Parts: sequence; C-alpha cells; structure tokens
Amino acid sequence: MRILFIGDVYMEQGRKAFEKYFPIVKEQYKPQFVILNGENIANGNGVSEEIYKYLMTLGINVITLGNHAFSRKDAALVLDYPNIIRPANYGKGTKGKEYVTMNYNGKTITVINLLGRVFMGDQIDNPFTKMDEILSKINSDYCVVDFHAEATSEKTAMALYLDGRVDALVGTHTHIPTADACIMPKGMLYITDVGMTGVRFGVIGGSGEQAIRKFLTGVPERTVPETSGPLQFNAVFLDLANRKIEKITIFDS
Ligand SMILES: [Fe+2]
Ligand SMILES: [Fe+2]
Repeated sequence: MRILFIGDVYMEQGRKAFEKYFPIVKEQYKPQFVILNGENIANGNGVSEEIYKYLMTLGINVITLGNHAFSRKDAALVLDYPNIIRPANYGKGTKGKEYVTMNYNGKTITVINLLGRVFMGDQIDNPFTKMDEILSKINSDYCVVDFHAEATSEKTAMALYLDGRVDALVGTHTHIPTADACIMPKGMLYITDVGMTGVRFGVIGGSGEQAIRKFLTGVPERTVPETSGPLQFNAVFLDLANRKIEKITIFDS
C-alpha cells in the first residue's frame, strides 16, 4: 500500500501550494491512498463543507484534523461526512469519528487521528490509552496514525509505544518538518512532524511581522495569515508493504 500523507494545509496559500505541487508529487510517487491534515485549510480553523467537497474531487481519501477540529461553527456538519475524522481522544459523545476504515483493492486500511496533551491546553483523554482501546477493536490490514501534538517527547514516546502495533505514525501540528523519518525497531514507519503546506516564510503560516510584534510587546492578537512570498509543500510518502518512508519537501524556487 502506497500512501501519501500531506502536512497541515494552511489557508489560502496552503491550498495554492497544494494545487501546485500535489499533481507533481502524485505523478512521481503514484500513491494509492492519500491522507491530508486539513485542520487549518479553511480559515485556519478546520474544514468547510465546500473545501471538504473540493478535496474529495481531487482524490483525497481521508482528512485528519487536530486542535482546530471544532473551531468552526459548521464543524459538526462537516464531521458527519464519511472521509473526515477528528482526534479520537475527545470525551465520550463528541461529534465526529474517532477513526475510519476504508477498502482499497481488497485490503482494509484504518486511519486514526490523536491529539497530544503536552503544551496543548485541551482537557482531553489520554492518547496512549485511547490507542489501546481502538487497537483492541480494529482488525485492519493496515493502520496509519496522525498524532497531532506539540512536544517531540510525547510524539517519540508514542512512536515507541505503537511500534509493531501500527504500520505508520505521522506527527503533525508544529508546521515544522523534522529530519527523523525512519523505520522503528519493530517496523513501524515514523516521522515526528511532517511540516506544513502553505507559505514558506511565515510563522506557522501566520504573518511574520505580526508574530514579531507579538513577541516584542507580549500583547495578544488574533493571527492573520501571511499572504505573500514563496510556497512550500510538505508530505511524507509511506510504502507500507515494502516498509519504506520518504520525506517530501518542495519549496518554490
Ligand atoms: Fe496545523
Ligand atoms: Fe494544530
């Protein structure tokens, strides 16, 4: 199973970078299944119904989310669609799906989304024990996890915890790609963070000028997106059958 996992697509510039580079990457890697982290794709906060439908027309199989899963007013509506999941470790009764299992050529693949707790601030359930609970219920040919978390310690601990139990663990959220794509000792493919898709020289996709001002003054401001400058596309290619992982980073020249 050849999977392409695309890192956090950030607002309009993210959609632009995605439209520019996805066809090229698709042509080169010929993925059979595409996962995209869409937690910032609409207005920085989740996925709109319109964008969900647009992503489906482009062949995205599963959209994962993160700490912005519930930031939009219409979040509950979009989470009802079949190809989108929210972090599994929210409390009982939360809208949306904890994971999704799909078929590809007679094989089943489960995609799970988790949210970290270190430096994140959300009062959510333990992602480690949540994984135990989910893995006791599923029996798929393949299983891929998006761990949306800030702390590298929490992500690497999760990598050791899930090694040999799932096929791949991909970190998201920091928007900065890490250089540690690897095969873990028991065969799981892993990267601490895949990085973002969008403007190259912003701060997490937001205006650099504004971020500097916030650090200089300490006065909080609502983040405004960076709207100009070169773009970047960050993804990871996962070949589950052959146990291969390859980091893909493309910058505008
Ligand atoms: Fe993000
Ligand atoms: Fe996030």
